[in-house]
Amino acid sequence: MKVLVTEKIAEKGIEEIKKAGIHLDIKLGIAREELLEIIKHYDAIIVRSVTKINEELYQAATNLKVVGRAGNGVDNIDMAGATKRGIIVVNTPEANTVSAAEHTIGLLLSSIRNIPQANAEIKSKRWDRSGFGGVELNGKTLGVVGLGRIGALVATRMQSFNMKVIAYDPYITDERFKKYGTEKKESLADLVKEADFITVHTPKTEETMGMIGAEEFKVAKKGVRLVNCARGGIIEEEALAQALKEGIVASAALDVLVNEPNTTSPLLDFKNTVITPHLGADTVEAQENVGLTIAHEVLSALKGEMVPNAVNLPTIQKYELDTLKPYLSLGETLGKLYHQLQKSAVKGVEVIYSGEVAKAETSVITLAILKGLFEPVLKERVNYVNAGLIAENRGIAVVEGKKNEVENYLNQIQVNIITKEGSFTLAGTVFGKGEPRIVEVNGYQFDLIPTPYMLVAENIDKPGMIGQMGTILGVSKVNIATMQVSRNQMGGKAMMILAVDSEVAQDSIKMLCNVEGILNVMMVKI
Ligand code: NAD
Ligand code: MLT
Repeated sequence: MKVLVTEKIAEKGIEEIKKAGIHLDIKLGIAREELLEIIKHYDAIIVRSVTKINEELYQAATNLKVVGRAGNGVDNIDMAGATKRGIIVVNTPEANTVSAAEHTIGLLLSSIRNIPQANAEIKSKRWDRSGFGGVELNGKTLGVVGLGRIGALVATRMQSFNMKVIAYDPYITDERFKKYGTEKKESLADLVKEADFITVHTPKTEETMGMIGAEEFKVAKKGVRLVNCARGGIIEEEALAQALKEGIVASAALDVLVNEPNTTSPLLDFKNTVITPHLGADTVEAQENVGLTIAHEVLSALKGEMVPNAVNLPTIQKYELDTLKPYLSLGETLGKLYHQLQKSAVKGVEVIYSGEVAKAETSVITLAILKGLFEPVLKERVNYVNAGLIAENRGIAVVEGKKNEVENYLNQIQVNIITKEGSFTLAGTVFGKGEPRIVEVNGYQFDLIPTPYMLVAENIDKPGMIGQMGTILGVSKVNIATMQVSRNQMGGKAMMILAVDSEVAQDSIKMLCNVEGILNVMMVKI
């Protein structure tokens, strides 16, 4: 495995990747042409906000499996392109939020008190107190646009300055506004009309780009002060320059600009702007946190594991992942069993989650089932990221159902594979501290620990079947670790599943198939 790092991440993260024995190349500020030339040699790339991960790069990146975004915003990454190719995109959304919130507050304070301007003045050996007067925060209204992770941190911290905090975020519940001590505003215009200070904390989306622009400046309080420590362009730059000229905006503090890096923006020429070069996450703590988190995530993703901060997968928290792991492994096993036991083309997959597991984020377990189902038959790369898309593209309808109750176990996952011949059922449960068990194979009941090599045979339920199976495997030098037999009715059909220590050769399978009463024998590999 080879990992390429194109933007600076903390040394601790680098060490972590090297410790895992992975080849790592660091090429900070690499030229685009060179990147496109060499990317084919890498399994993973770690970037921050500058490197563009787009179609052009994907086409050249024939080995790429993981994109690690050391930071939060993923606006430099084409997500659909990654998902289509099964490339997992991971980021570190929690790792730098405190630093970004603190930088926001730093920008607000420094801009409303002209601290950087006064500092520059005195450093040029002039002691002049005129022209640097500011305003207080005390008793004023702060408008927070986007009450997500960073917005909420800013909102709570600013209340200690005795500010009233109002917020606009159409995508969160009323409880969240209350939780962070903010007053909900139904529209952006309502917030803009009332706020003395406005800080934006939304992601960069089609809807948020330019969301504060000429229209908003028409209704804003004269002398409003702005902060943007989120993404360049959420406050429209031309309209902002105009509003600064007209005195509608008294000061603006920006950590981000539409085009970065940028040393030519007209906003740099205003005396009442404070601009930092995208430094929100540049603290020792955030960078170590980001570096270590991205290293762990890229390493897990390279191993094909489920990663908590995968951007193109359902969101799961780290603590949930620990609980989910045995179910993911069980789901994948159930999926893998199908095409090894049954050859019929799949038309639909119905998954029924019962008992405790029904309360978990089951959508990722369904992805694990699909991953297991497609892996043995598809040459293309199948993983958690593209398993859902592959099902969709193959016209396979996937449905999930949930039941609170389950008869014999605390939890159960039942997978009904629908084919034109009917339905094939596989079911499993997780025991105790995460031990997966297969409990049903198409109507036959078991209590089976899945192992890497299993021999599955269907036979007529009559004396001598188990003995002959044992004899032939003994002659073939195959050691049987465990064996379970299940029958649908006395004298009817039965199924044997044997955990064996090694793969059984085709010749031996043929010998077994020739035994009178044995209906079929399949070698299953998990
Ligand atoms: P988040 O996803 O936790 O929160 C974003 C919030 O914005 C969500 O609550 C969402 O509902 C809301 N939102 C989305 N569209 C909206 C709209 N049209 N109107 C109002 N609200 C809307 O994100 P976060 O972790 O808080 O990050 C916020 C921003 O800060 C992102 O743009 C991120 O890239 C940026 N960021 C910048 C730095 C930096 O160095 N300057 C560091 C970290 C994060
Ligand atoms: C982020 O989105 O995390 C920030 O822009 C910070 C960064 O990329 O360093």
